[in-house]
Amino acid sequence: MSNLHIIDNPLIKRDITYLRDKNTKEYQFRLALKRISFILAAEIGKEFPTNEIEVETPLEKTTGHKITRQIVLIPVLRAGLSMVSAFIEMIPQAKVGHIGMERDEETLKARTYYFKTPKNLDKSKVIVLDPMLATGGSAVAVFDYLKKNGARDCVFACLIAAPEGIDRLEENHPDVPIYTAVKDRQLNDKGYILPGLGDAGDRTFGTL
Ligand code: PRP
Ligand code: URA
Repeated sequence: MSNLHIIDNPLIKRDITYLRDKNTKEYQFRLALKRISFILAAEIGKEFPTNEIEVETPLEKTTGHKITRQIVLIPVLRAGLSMVSAFIEMIPQAKVGHIGMERDEETLKARTYYFKTPKNLDKSKVIVLDPMLATGGSAVAVFDYLKKNGARDCVFACLIAAPEGIDRLEENHPDVPIYTAVKDRQLNDKGYILPGLGDAGDRTFGTL
């Protein structure tokens, strides 16, 4: 059974169009990416377990809800950083870890250069943030590492996913649900997603 969730929402479709457009300026690119991240956070939030608690309104007591699981956000450096602020605004109690992962542009192999995660990954819902799922090499390496460090309940949130990356992630980590704003057609021979949006890190941070 596929664990792929493609979020069908006209607001996302509009913003993906801004992201794809090569003439979109950095500040508009970041804002569109942030708006999509809000919607992804809301969709993923549907999975969060809750307890009923009592709350007192100015008028009477009623039933409220409390999220019972620690949430850990793991942006994949660099491009994943652009999704953090929206997720934190939606889940203010979340802790944040960082994973530095870079693709070698020749071999397309992912290389890790930084790890710092909160404790108790085994008791947390871990949400990995990265706008692009291309070959899937980076995402597979991230979940390999997180699981070695105890993570059991993981989710992957991205904006654009290639079929090749989805297949590879599902094959290596079938327990990890993938939430994406869109599934694109294919990779080119340099591992870029088509039609895609180009290099997400470069377009976010202006390093083109
Ligand atoms: C991009 C992207 C993913 C990775 C996806 O990062 O943000 O982490 O490529 O490609 P893959 O699925 O083929 O592994 P990149 O390596 O360009 O680093 P950056 O975010 O620092 O630009
Ligand atoms: N990383 C990106 O930023 N874009 C792609 O198309 C593929 C990998």
